[in-house]
Amino acid sequence: MEKSDLIVGGKIKRFGFYRIVEHQFNMTAFGILVITGLSQKFHEYSLSQWIIINLGGVDSVRLIHRYTGLIFAVLTIFHIIAGSVGVIFHKWQATMVINKKDFTDAIDNLKYYFGITDHPARCDRYDYKQKFEYWGVVVGGLLMIATGLILWFPTLVVRYLPGEFIPAAKAAHTNEAMLAFLVIVIWHLYNSIFSPEVFPLDTSIFTGKISVERMKHEHPLEYERITGESLEEEHSEREAHEKQGTPVS
Ligand code: HEM
Repeated sequence: MEKSDLIVGGKIKRFGFYRIVEHQFNMTAFGILVITGLSQKFHEYSLSQWIIINLGGVDSVRLIHRYTGLIFAVLTIFHIIAGSVGVIFHKWQATMVINKKDFTDAIDNLKYYFGITDHPARCDRYDYKQKFEYWGVVVGGLLMIATGLILWFPTLVVRYLPGEFIPAAKAAHTNEAMLAFLVIVIWHLYNSIFSPEVFPLDTSIFTGKISVERMKHEHPLEYERITGESLEEEHSEREAHEKQGTPVS
């Protein structure tokens, strides 16, 4: 594909239609699960009581939580199956797999943040922070689904497993819920809304496009691969201009 086809109006395609729709479904299901789950966990607070009353009482909150949980489970399982089939049959590259470079990138970025080196790690399609978040969501999601199903069907579970599994599932489900909620609020929302690099909103998962500038800065290896352009040359040219004090063309 020509570079001019890839870059339109200073933007480059990052996500396809399916990824965008999947993210909106996941975001909505997760939001509903957090609201209906945490309002049950912290039922003594007036905000929880306001939520429960306005959703039609605790029975209706439990029903909404369980069936949204089912939708969340279908989305997660479908994502895992589609991703595995895509990678196994070479339709997609395994861009989310954690590799040695992620560890060296993390060290390189620390060196950059402490002023030891003059440029950050050169990352590919997903950097180590994005991979960490992704695997947290997948593994955490599977844990929520398994423990949620145990809480949903306790009498069926104790026919095959010891009774201790029920309180253990409850402890894992509610504590992982708090962890997931805090990770999304503190980490994910910071990176997609409040980080100075994207503020006021990283729109890439809504529009499917990212600016060429961000692509060069955050995913230089992918940029080079899809455009065939070398950013190392651009970087050295810029450095030479900076040293000589001449403007970059
Ligand atoms: C991934 C996001 C999820 C979050 C944040 C979440 C959160 C919570 C929380 C905080 C509770 C309250 C526990 C307590 O009383 O201390 C709860 C209960 C429960 N959750 Fe979830 N949950 C999630 C996913 C699921 C899924 C996927 C399912 C089902 C497949 C599920 C089924 C249940 C059930 C059955 C209960 C017991 C309360 C009831 O009887 O309705 N949850 N959840």
